[in-house]
Amino acid sequence: MRRRIAVLGATGSIGRQALEVIEANPELELVAATSGSTPIDGLAPLTEVGGDATDVLEQAQPDVVLNAIVGFAGVHATLWALERGVTLALANKESLVAAGALARDAWTRGGGLLLPVDSEHSAAFQLLADISRDQVRGLVLTASGGPFRGRSRAELDDVTPEDALEHPTWTMGPKITVDSATLANKGLELLEAHFLFDLPYDRIEVAIHPTSIVHAIVRLRDGASLAHLGYPDMRVPISFALTYPARAETPLEQLDFSSGLRLEFHAPDLEAFPLLALAREAGERGGTYPCAFNAANEVAVQAFLEGRIRFLDIDAAVADVLARVDGAPARDVDELIEADRNARNLVAVA
Ligand SMILES: NC(=O)c1ccc[n+]([C@@H]2O[C@H](COP(=O)([O-])OP(=O)(O)OC[C@H]3O[C@@H](n4cnc5c(N)ncnc54)[C@H](OP(=O)(O)O)[C@@H]3O)[C@@H](O)[C@H]2O)c1
Repeated sequence: MRRRIAVLGATGSIGRQALEVIEANPELELVAATSGSTPIDGLAPLTEVGGDATDVLEQAQPDVVLNAIVGFAGVHATLWALERGVTLALANKESLVAAGALARDAWTRGGGLLLPVDSEHSAAFQLLADISRDQVRGLVLTASGGPFRGRSRAELDDVTPEDALEHPTWTMGPKITVDSATLANKGLELLEAHFLFDLPYDRIEVAIHPTSIVHAIVRLRDGASLAHLGYPDMRVPISFALTYPARAETPLEQLDFSSGLRLEFHAPDLEAFPLLALAREAGERGGTYPCAFNAANEVAVQAFLEGRIRFLDIDAAVADVLARVDGAPARDVDELIEADRNARNLVAVA
């Protein structure tokens, strides 16, 4: 039986790579595809542009939902899959971060698989698979540091969207590329890891690792550390999630240990890139603070990409919103949508 896949956000960076993985594997079948606004007629038996992705999911009844929508817009599809116990291959980290406890509750009720597609979380998922939680001392998420690694805050004052879109190791959509430049992406990943692996924030670290070869490290209580390595290529975690647990063969490049691989690690500069610390703080405060962090960041990044605010205004906008929301937990999706909208409305950008 072929595994029936729905790809949401099929025209994006992850979506297109997912289509490539499906195309190359005869055991995978594309049954539905969606985009935000790009026409995709004929791409899959069922398609939808804009609109509510859950309509297509209801019709298609896929075995796996690959959620590669960008931003909070992906939250309905995430909750749809989790609630029904349909396997969710999750690239859309914003939905898990924003929905937080609501998503975890839906996941518990649905009892299905939640397979992260983010490379660091895919790595952590694999490393943690056969280890009991009491043996785990902590999780280390790696970060390339983005195009502005090593710069002081003063040196970030005049960077442009074009500068921020030049990522050194990954080719990705514009929003996550800017998030990588501000380290908001690693902040979102910290929150994502907390909800995925049920680890407290003080047991999740971030290390800057410029070559993006090590994707995650698990520290064990006996002093050993396990690492997951590979060249940065999103088709690896996509294939892992779509073929789980088969780990299908891919034609992708194997690590070459004769080529002088460098495995450097540094602490992140939280003064130059405060969004990572703000994400941690939002996570520790709980409730809808992570939702507000995400919402404010989405609005500010869009404004930066459109040239309406400067790079350093992004973290200032998020800090300002976090200081003004009440962060009360959302009891249902309507309250979550309200918390998201409220945070967006508080972002003071032209
Ligand atoms: N790219 C990576 O390497 C990477 C790595 C790890 C995690 N992720 C995560 O994966 C997700 C997708 O990232 P990406 O880089 O693939 O983004 P992207 O290239 O910008 O693609 C986003 C996709 O979402 C669709 N979309 C945008 N707004 C939408 C809306 N309101 N409703 C429904 N669909 C909408 C877009 O459709 P249109 O084409 O019509 O705009 C496009 O298909 C993000 O959450 C990101 O953080 C990405």
